[in-house]
Amino acid sequence: MPVIDIHNHFFPQTWPDLAKRYGTPNWPWIKHTEPGKAEIIIGDRFFRHIYSACWDPEVRLQEMDRDGVEMQVLSATPVLFEYDRPVEHALDCARLFNDAALELCTRGKGRLKSFCQVPLQDIDASCTELSRCMRAGHLGVQIGNHVGEKNLDDPGIVTFLHHCANEGAAVLVHPWDMLGQPRMPKYLMPWTVGMPAETQLGIVAMILSGAFDKLPRNLRICFAHGGGSFAFLLGRLENAWQHHPVAHGVCELPPRQYLNRFYVDSAVFDQRALRLLIETMGAERVLLGSDYPFPLGEHGIGSLIRSSRVNDETKSRLLGGNALSYLGLDRAEPVTVKDAPSAIGSPTHSHDDQLTYSSYLKVPELLALQDPQSKPQHHDELLFIIVHQTYELWFKELLHDLDGVVANLQAAEKNPQSHDEVYEAARLLRRCTEITRVLIEQFTILETMLPTHFLAFRGKLEPASGFQSEQFREIEFLCGLKDEKMLRYHRPTPEAYAQLERRLREPSLHDVFFGALRAKGCLHTDVNATEADQFAARARAVLSLYKDEHSNRDWIDVCERLTEFDELVVSWRLRHIQLVERVIGIRMGTGGSAGASYLKLTLDKKFFPELWEARTLLTQ
Ligand code: HEM
Repeated sequence: MPVIDIHNHFFPQTWPDLAKRYGTPNWPWIKHTEPGKAEIIIGDRFFRHIYSACWDPEVRLQEMDRDGVEMQVLSATPVLFEYDRPVEHALDCARLFNDAALELCTRGKGRLKSFCQVPLQDIDASCTELSRCMRAGHLGVQIGNHVGEKNLDDPGIVTFLHHCANEGAAVLVHPWDMLGQPRMPKYLMPWTVGMPAETQLGIVAMILSGAFDKLPRNLRICFAHGGGSFAFLLGRLENAWQHHPVAHGVCELPPRQYLNRFYVDSAVFDQRALRLLIETMGAERVLLGSDYPFPLGEHGIGSLIRSSRVNDETKSRLLGGNALSYLGLDRAEPVTVKDAPSAIGSPTHSHDDQLTYSSYLKVPELLALQDPQSKPQHHDELLFIIVHQTYELWFKELLHDLDGVVANLQAAEKNPQSHDEVYEAARLLRRCTEITRVLIEQFTILETMLPTHFLAFRGKLEPASGFQSEQFREIEFLCGLKDEKMLRYHRPTPEAYAQLERRLREPSLHDVFFGALRAKGCLHTDVNATEADQFAARARAVLSLYKDEHSNRDWIDVCERLTEFDELVVSWRLRHIQLVERVIGIRMGTGGSAGASYLKLTLDKKFFPELWEARTLLTQ
């Protein structure tokens, strides 16, 4: 698992004189003092010493190597957000930073990525700049936790966050412009006291205002410095929420229920604080963030996590695994992990960090994943959710096994004399058919729900629809039924969209099966032949296997398993239609289709029509 640092900063080596350009004072600039050393100056006021790691990718890469870090995602320095300037100036400044960041990354040997910045005082300009930056290669955006008097629950900022979700942009919230500064003139207290409070304020504002209720779940947002004081004071927040109507805000759920909606970084510099974060937020929600290369950053990036007593799997998540999903770089991480809720009150590990039944299987996280929408909760909605979740878990296993079948058939293609891979493919296919049998049976449990009971909460589910089951569509694409049009249902979830696009590009099970038969010498096709002739040739190849049963037992077993799988998937479609008719009659679906009559059209779909055609040929 790569080690990825999602919170660190840069400053371009050269910087135009913005005070001169705009005729306004107090712009940041860089003053090089000696080789490899510089100062950031705001107007004529010294702000901070910096060194060449800020602008020189060579130095940065060397230090990353020293600390065992594969990738860093760079952000600008928050004091330069310029949210109080006229928007044209702030936008120009943001563009300079954003383009400079990309330029620096191009010299980073693929190991440096960046977050852009936007003029958050103007939402339209921010959305436009974010879209431009995402197209140009940024992975997301760093924003301040407030714009003047506006907190993150400001409707304009919520609109911007919505846009980030749509663009698939990760958001890093950094505290800045700290409160109470007249009372903290000394001892870096704005950093040590003000910043944690600002970050806590950002999170609490988003929770209590109901911003998380309005924002889509695919928003990936992280709060710097471990979320500031938030985790430590969550109990206080909950206590107020439970006992004081004023503290209740307008959120739909108690505060802790929103912990699965955001990430925090690990920049807390203390083992007990890190442990509290993991136990409060869940190990899936903490990301390596160093604040490098500033003086208050972590010296020895990742050393806090590496020297902690958590097990190796948790370490690897914190060091990089979680960042892959936060940054949208890897959809391979299961949805259950991405959306895992807090483990608060039920630590997933025993006190001495030994594995337990519960920690291994993530039972507390699993049991907290049901989030009924009806209010008051309808009794049958829990069943509805659990049945669907169970289907999705089995779909995940099916994809895992079908990928295994593909890998074995690809190996068989490379080595046509070997039988091992063919046997292994057949064994895994048998598992797929057994799982599908269970999936067909499961519909009966849902049929214990009366149609009236479903209608009592159906309205809450729109516009969600089975059309959006990414894994179901993946199974279809993987087996060879690739229909690009179906991608449109996944536009709201960029990771799912990207994963399905990948499946569209990759060879399907159908492709590799016939590739292996070609390598075995059974299939001879002319690439210039018509599709009908190629289809006939593939069916004849299957026929030839059956005609020499003695020599082809292993391959015939694969053919039989594939046929059975095809047959069972049609049975699944049929049972689903029966369920749909039983529950909603001939009404339209929430996904906008004609409902049962549309679904009936899918009954003719077959993954391996040649296997069926071969049967006709056999009887001729
Ligand atoms: C009350 C129960 C259910 C009803 C009323 C229902 C209804 C529908 C309807 C009407 C559609 C067509 C698309 C649309 O317009 O929304 C559909 C599609 C779909 N449903 Fe269901 N469904 C139910 C349960 C389930 C369950 C338990 C699963 C299990 C995963 C499921 C998976 C799917 C899938 C994968 C599709 C897409 C099928 C395709 O594109 O061929 N549905 N459902």
